[in-house]
Amino acid sequence: MGKAHSLAYAAMPMFFWPPPAVPHRKVIAEMTDQLAQSAASRFGSESWTTDWRRVVDDPEIDIVDISSPNDTHCEIAVAAAEAGKHVICEKPLARTAEEALQMVEAANRAGVTNMVAFNYRRTPAVALAKKYIDEGAIGRVLSFQGTYFQDWSADPKTPLSWRFKKSIAGSGALGDIGAHSLDLARHLVGEISSVVGVLQTHITERPLEVGSHDRPAGPTGTVDVDDEVHTMFRFANGAVGSLGATRNAPGRPNFDTFEIHGETGSLYFNYQRCNELQVCFTDDEPDRQGFRTIITGPEHPYGEALWPIAGVCIGYAETKIIECYEFCRAIAQGIAAEPDFGDGYQVARICEAIQLSASSGTWIDVPPLDRQSMPVAPDLKGVATT
Ligand SMILES: NC(=O)c1ccc[n+]([C@@H]2O[C@H](COP(=O)([O-])OP(=O)(O)OC[C@H]3O[C@@H](n4cnc5c(N)ncnc54)[C@H](O)[C@@H]3O)[C@@H](O)[C@H]2O)c1
Repeated sequence: MGKAHSLAYAAMPMFFWPPPAVPHRKVIAEMTDQLAQSAASRFGSESWTTDWRRVVDDPEIDIVDISSPNDTHCEIAVAAAEAGKHVICEKPLARTAEEALQMVEAANRAGVTNMVAFNYRRTPAVALAKKYIDEGAIGRVLSFQGTYFQDWSADPKTPLSWRFKKSIAGSGALGDIGAHSLDLARHLVGEISSVVGVLQTHITERPLEVGSHDRPAGPTGTVDVDDEVHTMFRFANGAVGSLGATRNAPGRPNFDTFEIHGETGSLYFNYQRCNELQVCFTDDEPDRQGFRTIITGPEHPYGEALWPIAGVCIGYAETKIIECYEFCRAIAQGIAAEPDFGDGYQVARICEAIQLSASSGTWIDVPPLDRQSMPVAPDLKGVATT
């Protein structure tokens, strides 16, 4: 993610001109001198450090961007907010809802702009789906069916990286990729009010990592997070939904999809064809009924800033560039960023409700996100978040 975020800071003003800000990549933190030095020269940072606290304490720094593993998010974000820095943090916001709440409270108390990096929202085709729903093009939304399938952990020889360790990751497929889909469900349809789910760990032992190299024949360690989650949910507005997420789906490298049915139309998105949105509107002429495919381009959300011709296509990097733009725009305009730490916290609460449901076998209610009861920074009070 350090690569994706660094590229976004460099490229954002080339796409969004005039830019809300021109970011300077001042300092990059890594674990060792060698990693930090190499990251700085590769990703265009003016300097490097092996102690993130030096970044947080540096008066020249305005933005702290957290792209390290999940166990580091809370401590760095709280320290950065307390030092008055604007903070963007990778998903999942934290390992637990309790940690995520600490981050929300620290950011709100300090009055700093904060964002959780749910970048799939920024895919133009997803933003187009949001626009159609908000305009009422598919009427009242009835249902959301999401999948987030990846294939990289299907091989039992995939080493025991931090993503398989609860103490670092918090959870497995649920928080790693399911969280992205839960964000899309909330973003596109509305607040999730209750959940029921199952979690499964298919491969319980994996070869230990040695540095960053695979050592399939060596000693193994225990996986203590889920490999796979399936959940159904109810939305507060009466819609219903479901999600399956796994990193053990051979043939599905990044099968992040949703299908949404409304009273007067349907929408289908598959990230593996991320320049396309499939739409069906029931007010089309009877002989034209059915799904058709829109290729996103200059006419669609963020399109003017991207490439001048529909179909020349965007990829993952552009979602991070747009995310960077939205974050810098929120800072420059003094408005709340979206999705913010509050959204990351709510997704963490939904994930915990799914875990509780999986162990109890029952539906679990998710309390609504009560932004009014959270500490609110004076300069953000009353600012609409849409
Ligand atoms: N938004 C997305 O689509 C997306 C995709 C992948 C990962 N992520 C998230 O990004 C974060 C990083 O994931 P990744 O795939 O880049 O992981 P990674 O393991 O590839 O890289 C993490 C890097 O952080 C460094 N690091 C660890 N602790 C550190 C510390 N205390 N100080 C400085 N550097 C430290 C490691 O040395 C490593 O280089 C995770 O939270 C992950 O969930 C988000």
